[in-house]
Amino acid sequence: MASLGQIIFYSMIVLIVLFSVLIILLLALAFSGSSSEVSSTNTLPIANLSDDIILSCYLNVKLELAKLREVSVTWEKKDLKGLVHHYHDGADDLLDQDPQFKGRTQVFPEALGKGNASLLLRDVKKRDAGEYTCKISSSEGKGTVDINLRTAAFSAPKFTVIKGILFAVANRWFPKPNVTWSDEAGNTLKGSSSFVQNSAGIYRVASSLQPINISDTYVCRIENELVSAVSKATVSVDGDSQIPDWY
Ligand SMILES: *[C@@H]1O[C@H](CO)[C@@H](O)[C@H](O)[C@H]1NC(C)=O
Ligand SMILES: *[C@@H]1O[C@H](CO)[C@@H](O)[C@H](O)[C@H]1NC(C)=O
Ligand SMILES: *[C@@H]1O[C@H](CO)[C@@H](O)[C@H](O)[C@H]1NC(C)=O
Ligand SMILES: *[C@@H]1O[C@H](CO)[C@@H](O)[C@H](O)[C@H]1NC(C)=O
Repeated sequence: MASLGQIIFYSMIVLIVLFSVLIILLLALAFSGSSSEVSSTNTLPIANLSDDIILSCYLNVKLELAKLREVSVTWEKKDLKGLVHHYHDGADDLLDQDPQFKGRTQVFPEALGKGNASLLLRDVKKRDAGEYTCKISSSEGKGTVDINLRTAAFSAPKFTVIKGILFAVANRWFPKPNVTWSDEAGNTLKGSSSFVQNSAGIYRVASSLQPINISDTYVCRIENELVSAVSKATVSVDGDSQIPDWY
């Protein structure tokens, strides 16, 4: 017959073992959740609209050892029913690809064998911005990485001087930027700017500065939350005599 003391003693042992198992399970879960074997060299890339971009995604295995078998790669975009790109059994499988990515995506099969599942996205459009997930599964390991793609457009301004006014015009900006003028010493000057959106949503930026001094240098800074462009103009004599139509 076990005494009350023995019952309590064995109950404690059982409880301690149960708690230990629970803690080990929790640690294992937390560990596997936080350390994906898949990474990206850039999880916050900025793409130039209508340019191509490579979204980086690769498996963390020693490249010289890597010779992956059964590599399967899935690129998904948040809030999109179709896939961005899917590759398995040694070939693309684009049956479930979302139409908005048709003909614009590519993985690199020779790089895939080394665990590199980077995606080439061609002719980037505004609506390509958003959260992407790259999922790799292979003989050597598996995991996912999230990549947040932002889209931008920018171009350097062209300067002209007309009737004592310095004009700066930049044809392609997105998202909408702001313009600040300063003299060479860094003192802020007051300019006047207009922003006109074309049908694709890209802004044409036109800004003017007056009064100005001949042979002085002025700095025009155009920036949005993604890109900043600083250009300098040294005022010579007046160029054209007509106010251009973009103003
Ligand atoms: C983005 O596009 C602009 C205009 O086409 C070009 O001048 C610039 O070099 C491009 N930037 C990148 C990072 O590709
Ligand atoms: C993965 O492959 C792409 C395309 O060839 C390349 O640009 C990129 O540098 C590679 N990344 C790594 C980590 O090897
Ligand atoms: C033009 O030159 C004068 C004299 O040097 C100076 O006081 C003035 O601030 C300059 N104006 C601008 C807009 O640079
Ligand atoms: C212009 O835009 C940049 C980036 O969004 C911001 O940091 C800056 O404060 C803005 N400047 C002005 C004068 O609004």
